[in-house]
Amino acid sequence: MAREQVLIFSFRSFCCVFFVLSAFSFISFLYWCHCSGPCYSQNQIMTQKQDKFIDLLWFPSAWNHLSFPSNPPLKLLKIALFVKKWPHRSHAGGLERHALTLHLALAKRGHELHIFTASCLNCSFPTYPISSLYFHLSKPTAAGYLDQSIVWQQLQTQNSTGKPFDVIHTESVGLRHTRARNLTNVVVSWHGIAYETIHSDIIQELLRTPEEPQAYALAERASKVVEEVKFFPKYAHHVATSDHCGDVLKRIYMIPEERVHVILNGVDEEVFKPDVAMGKDFKKKFGIPENRSLVLGMAGRLVKDKGHPLMFEALKQLLAENDTFRRSTVFLVAGDGPWGARYRDLGTNVIVLGPLDQTRLAMFYNAIDIFVNPTLRAQGLDHTVLEAMLSGKPLMATRLASIVGSVIVGTDMGYLFSPQVESVKKALYGIWADGREVLEKKGLVARKRGLNLFTATKMAAAYERLFLCISNDEKNGENNCKYQSPLI
Ligand SMILES: *[C@@H]1O[C@H](CO)[C@@H](O)[C@H](O)[C@H]1NC(C)=O
Ligand SMILES: *[C@@H]1O[C@H](CO)[C@@H](O)[C@H](O)[C@H]1NC(C)=O
Ligand SMILES: *[C@@H]1O[C@H](CO)[C@@H](O)[C@H](O)[C@H]1NC(C)=O
Ligand SMILES: *[C@@H]1O[C@H](CO)[C@@H](O)[C@H](O)[C@H]1NC(C)=O
Ligand SMILES: *[C@@H]1O[C@H](CO)[C@@H](O)[C@H](O)[C@H]1NC(C)=O
Repeated sequence: MAREQVLIFSFRSFCCVFFVLSAFSFISFLYWCHCSGPCYSQNQIMTQKQDKFIDLLWFPSAWNHLSFPSNPPLKLLKIALFVKKWPHRSHAGGLERHALTLHLALAKRGHELHIFTASCLNCSFPTYPISSLYFHLSKPTAAGYLDQSIVWQQLQTQNSTGKPFDVIHTESVGLRHTRARNLTNVVVSWHGIAYETIHSDIIQELLRTPEEPQAYALAERASKVVEEVKFFPKYAHHVATSDHCGDVLKRIYMIPEERVHVILNGVDEEVFKPDVAMGKDFKKKFGIPENRSLVLGMAGRLVKDKGHPLMFEALKQLLAENDTFRRSTVFLVAGDGPWGARYRDLGTNVIVLGPLDQTRLAMFYNAIDIFVNPTLRAQGLDHTVLEAMLSGKPLMATRLASIVGSVIVGTDMGYLFSPQVESVKKALYGIWADGREVLEKKGLVARKRGLNLFTATKMAAAYERLFLCISNDEKNGENNCKYQSPLI
């Protein structure tokens, strides 16, 4: 039995060691790791041999670390997708944007996509010039969920038309477990689970003013976790959109490892990319003063759970207490919500831009020196930080498990803070002290990591391979669950 060692070093203090034992094409991984975060990245892996096979279903880390060929797919699949809502405009939430980015990419690769989603009142449903994309609409329930008996009927009809579905994908509980439980070819993607949300609840409770009532959620969340632990295993396969979520699904939710797969979110790398001219243009258009030495940007819904009360308070204090800071910085705030008006009250240092469509958002990222995301939502993996990274910008974000474990994995690409006013101020002072030159260097590191892990192409390739693996036809000699090195 040949035996080799693969040593993987992380530039942080984290360090993981893989021992790869191989015999012919069989490999087993003994996996020992100090961290629940990413255990390796490009340039940090030293492998002696390139002809190793990995059983993908057992791969413990994010599939984004693997390299899948961009050739035409090995075979074309018939895929069903269940998603509560299909995005109509650019400011859709994370789950819907994930559904859109991923499934359009899969359809463009030639797979037959059937999307089961809610019809919308008073809106014209978007159309796409892709011939292998089909929508099956239904009226949502009063609570806004997909009507399970209708979508199930629609699924059965399509399943008996032409060929049956190879894979059924549901974004969160779009297809309920009561329907999905007997199917072996179901994949559910989680964009926020109750266990992660407990962290958000704790933060909100700590930030609560005495006048506000205690949130109902705080007391209820633990029972919600127990409920989820009971029904999650009814789905055959699970995709975690962050490393942390993958760990929780295996460890806390006790779902067998080979049914939990980590595929980190990806964003459109053709839209979000560095473009200096675009940034200059944007600054001119929105009258952003040229003489400020630091431009910080925030984007998204300007609401409480995205951390805006906290950021507002920190900014207010900073601008009041330090003249030099005030004269040299400007904050751009994209998005809408109740905190927009309050930010305007902070004076000329804060420019509230309102909601931006995707093209403008791409320009916005190019106009800033650093992207700041004060979100208090610990669940899911925020898309805006990934967009900023692909645009070559460093990040400042809340120290949440998904961010620390998958996104800002080192100080060489950004800054972390705890959701407390003092901590936010300290991080902002730190950024200011570091200055534009340091930020540009961090931005390059961020861009490199983004290109390696967070492109839409990467995400779609990983899902495609997972779907191929789940519908693997061994009798016909297919081996879509095997992956040949290299890891990247
Ligand atoms: C739909 O649009 C019509 C006219 O444009 C309006 O009167 C009606 O209130 C709208 N309904 C909903 C549910 O938004
Ligand atoms: C679809 O049809 C196939 C073949 O008849 C069957 O095995 C499978 O269970 C069906 N799937 C659903 C969701 O009904
Ligand atoms: C799943 O299988 C169980 C046991 O065979 C059966 O009682 C149940 O009706 C099935 N559920 C669905 C949705 O097909
Ligand atoms: C502003 O902050 C900087 C960095 O912490 C400090 O050096 C400077 O003295 C402060 N200025 C004022 C007016 O507080
Ligand atoms: C930048 O220019 C504005 C007016 O255009 C001026 O009010 C401000 O003091 C200038 N700031 C610096 C740091 O020079």
